[in-house]
Amino acid sequence: MRLLVTGGAGFIGANFVHGSVRDHEVTVLDALTYAGSREALAPVAGDIRLVEGDVTDAELVTKLVAEADAVVHFAAETHVDNALADPEPFLRSNVVGTFTILEAVRRHGVRLHHVSTDEVYGDLELDTRRRFTEETPYNPSSPYSSTKAAADMLVRAWVRSYGVRATISNCSNNYGPYQHVEKFIPRTITNVLTGRRPKLYGSGANVRDWIHVDDHNAAVWRILADGQAGRTYLIGAECERDNLTVIRTILTLMGRDPDDFDHVTDRAGHDLRYAIDPTPLYDELGWAPKHTDFDEGLRATIDWYRDNESWWGPLKDVVEAAYEERGQ
Ligand SMILES: NC(=O)c1ccc[n+]([C@@H]2O[C@H](COP(=O)([O-])OP(=O)(O)OC[C@H]3O[C@@H](n4cnc5c(N)ncnc54)[C@H](O)[C@@H]3O)[C@@H](O)[C@H]2O)c1
Repeated sequence: MRLLVTGGAGFIGANFVHGSVRDHEVTVLDALTYAGSREALAPVAGDIRLVEGDVTDAELVTKLVAEADAVVHFAAETHVDNALADPEPFLRSNVVGTFTILEAVRRHGVRLHHVSTDEVYGDLELDTRRRFTEETPYNPSSPYSSTKAAADMLVRAWVRSYGVRATISNCSNNYGPYQHVEKFIPRTITNVLTGRRPKLYGSGANVRDWIHVDDHNAAVWRILADGQAGRTYLIGAECERDNLTVIRTILTLMGRDPDDFDHVTDRAGHDLRYAIDPTPLYDELGWAPKHTDFDEGLRATIDWYRDNESWWGPLKDVVEAAYEERGQ
């Protein structure tokens, strides 16, 4: 298949591209924002075409889509804290960018898979066992999740109104190699590796449902291959952990005192709990996560960051300076 992968130089997209080049012809469209890097694609540089460009550039997008059999749309602004500080780029990349992709796939009749987040559903109470399903009403809390929700709605409308062949997936929190050091797990690991004390927002009671990036991407492939146009699939690995447990686990795995971290000002409007019910993905598409031992996945991720300081090292000081300015 000739695949156009938007945002393929970011965390999940780069891992997706690594896993796709053997069997497919891959073009990556990526604006190489602060979150994207050519280095994330270095292991497959000779096997792909990397186009540096913006998903809001209609002319470029239309040309690339016309050359593809399918588009996998990862490109987005993704960091909630950045969205709180300056939402404008989120509106542009996430909403206008998705609109631009939709218009191009509509014109050329190309299959689209739109990658989204479970954050569109808002949050769940801490003291229930309720989980998000396809029927959960959208209720986004942050400027980030509201732009992802808007993008999902555009995709649904383009399916219904124009018969665009699109699927949507809403996935829980990913971890693994090549995740930007601004995000919780890599930030914690690289704080330890650079002699900084890890930081925990608030009390750390907030629960996230963790999934290894390779399991997320395997699900995206199952949906791309056999998903039903117009459907939304929820992707999750049934691995709920509160943030306090995650930070203590990382410290322990790195041979540190599990309480050797600082509590910092909580994120405004911080969602309490996310949890996905992935049953339809198991039953209908035969997907199941392979990385079911979270501590083992964390251990491998720690090893990856230990071995790849040349990738994340240059980003670290800038990220920490921005956090310090926000008192976090
Ligand atoms: N990380 C998670 O835990 C998670 C969970 C569920 C869903 N998602 C979704 O998966 C997708 C990828 O997330 P990620 O964590 O890899 O993000 P990331 O921030 O690591 O990467 C985003 C990539 O998109 C590129 N990009 C941003 N704006 C662009 C634009 N206007 N034009 C072209 N490229 C642009 C960036 O350069 C970067 O390479 C996003 O759509 C996100 O909403 C992420």
